[in-house]
Amino acid sequence: DLPPRVRIYEVGARDGLQNEKAVVPTEIKAEFIRRLAAAGLTTVEATSFVHPKWVPQLADSEQLFPLVRDLEQDLERDGAAKLPVLVPNDRGLDRALALGARGIAVFVSATESFAKANLNRTMAEALAMSEPVVARAHEQKVHVRGYLSMCFGDPWEGPVPIARVVRTAKALLDMGCDELSLGDTIGVATPGHVLALLAELNEEGVPTDRIGVHFHDTYGQALSNTLAALQHGVRTVDSSAGGLGGCPYAKSATGNLATEDLVWMLDGLGIETGVDLGRLTATSAWMAEQLGRPSPSRTVRALTGT
Ligand code: HMG
Ligand code: MG
Repeated sequence: DLPPRVRIYEVGARDGLQNEKAVVPTEIKAEFIRRLAAAGLTTVEATSFVHPKWVPQLADSEQLFPLVRDLEQDLERDGAAKLPVLVPNDRGLDRALALGARGIAVFVSATESFAKANLNRTMAEALAMSEPVVARAHEQKVHVRGYLSMCFGDPWEGPVPIARVVRTAKALLDMGCDELSLGDTIGVATPGHVLALLAELNEEGVPTDRIGVHFHDTYGQALSNTLAALQHGVRTVDSSAGGLGGCPYAKSATGNLATEDLVWMLDGLGIETGVDLGRLTATSAWMAEQLGRPSPSRTVRALTGT
């Protein structure tokens, strides 16, 4: 059974931009976020409070967040944060809280190689680094998402055992994450693998309503994987406007599932998202101009004739 409504968790301003070499001006990022909200997206991950040397593109988060923070009140309330920000550790949380962030996302890996490459930690150390962050966020009534990367395959280690993904996912929920996002960081998943992981998570007591899916479209599987997850009962889908994205610390991570491609499919299925596809496409076309190259989203290209 397909759901009547899907919550789109928009990551274009964070996952989308973090891999861009040329630094995008802060005002353009703010405008991007405003236009995404105006297109009807109610959860727009705004930026990250990671070490500025690790992700120079997002080093302006102190300047950016205050420019968009007012949007948080305008966006419809459904219990989850509207402008969540990525936070790796206590230092990141301090920075986010100082600016009044109401939602954060911690992130760990299901593989040792990526934990090291992305966080300079072992898997266990990364979990230990997240734990106090989640606890402190909750003391402040801040909503917490837990991202789990490399849930299907890893560029250094190959296929990732489902049991290990489930164990790490449970660790994130046990430490108090309100929701979980299962990342296919390098886009290698296929629908059968997605269904097998979701079934095993349920088997181990993880309720589907706390699970979101985060697909990258490297092998063109992101929409198929999404449809499989929706049929399983998942109601939160991460995507990136215009299909921007990738992770600078994972070789072969290309763009995220494009929000326009997702909305095209969901519109066709009669599933409500609240997103105005025309306004969203115009936003991605505008952003593509800022970045100086066409959007990789098939839907954006079809609708704008580029
Ligand atoms: P480290 O080098 O081990 O840092 O990096 P450290 O803990 O040893 O600290 C060294 C110095 O950095 C200290 O300063 C800290 O204060 C400072 P010092 O005392 O030497 O003067 N520092 C910070 N400064 C500002 N903000 C901070 C911060 N933390 C420490 N938050 C660290 C460890 C976690 C910081 C680093 O590895 C890092 O920032 N990594 C983030 C990488 C990243 O953002 N990757 C992309 C996002 S994940 C992703 O894209 C996947 C996802 O989309 C899902 C999917 O697709 O799978 C979410
Ligand atoms: Mg990602």
